[in-house]
Amino acid sequence: MSKKILITGGAGFIGSHLAEGLLNMGHEVIIVDNLSRGNCGNINSILNRINFVKGNVTDPGLMQDLIKSCDTVFHLAALSRVIPSIDNPELCFKSNIEGTEIIARLCSQYGKRLVFSSSREVYGTAKYSPVDEKHPLDPENPYGTSKVAGEKIIESYSKCYNLKYAILRLANVYGQKDFDRVIPIFIKNSLNNKDIIIYGGQQILDFVYISDVIEAFLKAYSNNENLLVNIGSGKGTTLLELANIIKKITKNEGKIKIKDKRKGEVEIYISNINKSHEILEWKPEISLTEGIKRLL
Ligand SMILES: NC(=O)c1ccc[n+]([C@@H]2O[C@H](COP(=O)([O-])OP(=O)(O)OC[C@H]3O[C@@H](n4cnc5c(N)ncnc54)[C@H](O)[C@@H]3O)[C@@H](O)[C@H]2O)c1
Repeated sequence: MSKKILITGGAGFIGSHLAEGLLNMGHEVIIVDNLSRGNCGNINSILNRINFVKGNVTDPGLMQDLIKSCDTVFHLAALSRVIPSIDNPELCFKSNIEGTEIIARLCSQYGKRLVFSSSREVYGTAKYSPVDEKHPLDPENPYGTSKVAGEKIIESYSKCYNLKYAILRLANVYGQKDFDRVIPIFIKNSLNNKDIIIYGGQQILDFVYISDVIEAFLKAYSNNENLLVNIGSGKGTTLLELANIIKKITKNEGKIKIKDKRKGEVEIYISNINKSHEILEWKPEISLTEGIKRLL
């Protein structure tokens, strides 16, 4: 049955793909985004099929009107990267914590289910690997801290006001429309035959392709239980390996240059995805090499 779905941050990388996925399922989609990072180019192809509202998730009046009139909220709006959160923690905490509190409160008040886009950053550097959902939460930067706070706010509204929710802890997502995270930067430099700069190099990260992530969101939407799951590839890749894969596929003749690791960046994360596999019957389909080829 067609439902009315609100996506916060829907003009961003993941949100715009999610909007397409929900439209393809026959749902009505409303996007709210302040365009601080997302842009209308991301949703150009679906602009005549959605309702787009330019606005801020920290505006309680606006959010009340939007949440009242929808069936489910996918909350993706956030200051979404680590380094900008270190540069401007105040903005990060306002958007990510205050915004999430407003949305969780209104979803509780109006009885709407909330699907929240959390991050592997809640764990910090892995104390064991692969990291399951019981791993201690020990974020290393304001962004990770804001996601822990967002999760805890949602769980407390659930305990006290019966909020129905799904929390997805995403690993490093990559795909079309992303532009300034590690994979798009490496690809851009490689296609221009430039050197690839790596900060650190030995960090091990888990890269998951956008279509797999959207599938996970859609499955979490269809599942009515309260849930908290990791979404990742379940495989670890060092940044050096990643640079070499991209160099090889793009036939880049530049060098790989290693610079000092940046403060606040996690050193190792590989997700244990057994729980999402069991509960959502979800597993990633696209390998890193295949995903990078599709992206190119
Ligand atoms: N991309 C990843 O690898 C990844 C990994 C883990 C978690 N996440 C989370 O998934 C979500 C989506 O990530 P993304 O990669 O699409 O990021 P993105 O930055 O492309 O999208 C976030 C969107 O939110 C909007 N936004 C920011 N603050 C807002 C506010 N206060 N009010 C309204 N809109 C606002 C931005 O304009 C942007 O369009 C984020 O919550 C992010 O933290 C992403």
